[in-house]
Amino acid sequence: MTIEVSSNPPTGLAVIIGVQGGIGSALQDVITNSRRYEKVLGFSRAEDGFDLTSEASIRTAATAVAALGLPLRLVIVATGLLHDASMQPEKTWRQLDADQLLRSFAVNAVGPALVAKHFLPLFPRGDKAVFAALSAKVGSIGDNHLGGWYGYRAAKAALNQLMRTASIELRRTHPLAICVTLHPGTVATALSAPFHSLGHDTVKPSFAAERLISVIDGLRSIDSGLMLDHSGLPLPW
Ligand SMILES: NC(=O)c1ccc[n+]([C@@H]2O[C@H](COP(=O)([O-])OP(=O)(O)OC[C@H]3O[C@@H](n4cnc5c(N)ncnc54)[C@H](OP(=O)(O)O)[C@@H]3O)[C@@H](O)[C@H]2O)c1
Repeated sequence: MTIEVSSNPPTGLAVIIGVQGGIGSALQDVITNSRRYEKVLGFSRAEDGFDLTSEASIRTAATAVAALGLPLRLVIVATGLLHDASMQPEKTWRQLDADQLLRSFAVNAVGPALVAKHFLPLFPRGDKAVFAALSAKVGSIGDNHLGGWYGYRAAKAALNQLMRTASIELRRTHPLAICVTLHPGTVATALSAPFHSLGHDTVKPSFAAERLISVIDGLRSIDSGLMLDHSGLPLPW
């Protein structure tokens, strides 16, 4: 899959949050190479001190974006947390831990909601603009047949509800703007590395990024509020 390079003059601004991540970094490359935007801005903890657990850092980033004076056309939140040195997804309720659950909620749900709080008001009224937060199919309650991963599943379900709610408010002032959550598929990144086996429909970040941009390109106002997979199909809540 190749995303078409625009022959029109580039317009506006695209923002990607989490550009040090596997999918975030690939999204930045694909969007930059498409030459559709006058400016593509990436934020990350390492480069900008942008931390989802600090509303002040989110506000600072939004202020910097507003100061550029370019119409904001796309915001993608490509951050997420499944595991790290001090945290593994739970296999059983015996492993439930309050601090771990709260951390998962802070990064996977509360942080992206605060990004929406500070960035959605920057969208131009009367023009198409897209806010897409990367979610996960395992956050679907209706599709949960395997169990496990309590905190990650629940936090992604909360993210879906927060974005759905924001989409309804957004429609009142920005009828052409779109707010969705997207499932990228299983992608070979640090987040998925301990859990996928080769040949299990795992795709490279560059391919995943192209698929996601293709879904974003096809979004219509009527799609706002949905959780969509990497083919653009709505997933059950
Ligand atoms: N990979 C998959 O198979 C898969 C499947 C379904 C859904 N997803 C979703 O896709 C998204 C991207 O995942 P990925 O696979 O690209 O994972 P990744 O390579 O681990 O990237 C995750 C990014 O999130 C950032 N992050 C974590 N905590 C943060 C915080 N407090 N503040 C700011 N940034 C923070 C990390 O920043 P640092 O670099 O600073 O640590 C990292 O860059 C996530 O929402 C994930 O849930 C992925």
